[in-house]
Amino acid sequence: MAVGVFDSGLGGLTVLDAVSRELPDVPFVYFGDNAHAPYGVRDSDDIYRLTTSAVERLWDAGCDLVILACNTASAAALRRMQESWIPPEKRVLGVFVPLIEALTERQWGDNSPPREVAVKHVALFATPATVSSRAFQRELAFRAIGVDVEAQPCGGLVDAIEDGDEILAEALVRSHVEALQRRMPTPEAAILGCTHYPLVQEAFQSALGADVKVYSQADLVAASLQDYLGRHPKMIGSGTESMFLTTGDPQRVSNKATQVLRRKITFQSA
Ligand code: DGL
Repeated sequence: MAVGVFDSGLGGLTVLDAVSRELPDVPFVYFGDNAHAPYGVRDSDDIYRLTTSAVERLWDAGCDLVILACNTASAAALRRMQESWIPPEKRVLGVFVPLIEALTERQWGDNSPPREVAVKHVALFATPATVSSRAFQRELAFRAIGVDVEAQPCGGLVDAIEDGDEILAEALVRSHVEALQRRMPTPEAAILGCTHYPLVQEAFQSALGADVKVYSQADLVAASLQDYLGRHPKMIGSGTESMFLTTGDPQRVSNKATQVLRRKITFQSA
């Protein structure tokens, strides 16, 4: 039994960490497409092509259920994959919905009509491709009314995190927060809409100020995966081994992942 976790690079490790803590008996196969990161500057056909090829590799590793721990792939490719590409016995889930359910105070799978919610001014930080897809606003509109969303495409931030350049990453966070605050001076909540960004969450919180509630996805996705597997236990596939696969240089990616997760991680070539 194994569940696949996919990201363009290191960011999905934030989700992997949370899901493995929540579900310690489930083996997870992680796929980082580090050779092609960042996805956030690619067009949607390219993101679709790369994402489907990674998901196929995870199916080959015995995963019937794959979590796209990548907002960019969830925003740009997931709907198209669900419409025509995923075979009936497999599932691919994105990371948007658990976050939006938390923001709009909904229980898992509550599909009642959109209603007023407590937060009115929300800042969204995400990759350029996620922002231009407007997928977040679309999913939010199914659940809430009267929420003003100001989105900031955080160009350069995924590259800085992938390169391990903390100084540049923190400078970029400050400048993206300032750019957003020029358009929305006092957001009540901020969404880190890219799984790389929890790796610089403190920089976001300090630039935004203590009054802004910062939502990040890892724990929310973990809770919703636990709920999902409780209802669909057969979706834990036939794989039995946890593994870390990368399209990048396994040694280099292992070193960075070990730094990020603060435990020894060994990647192998996908
Ligand atoms: N972690 C991916 C996300 O959540 C990063 C995308 C990228 O590679 O630009 O959007």
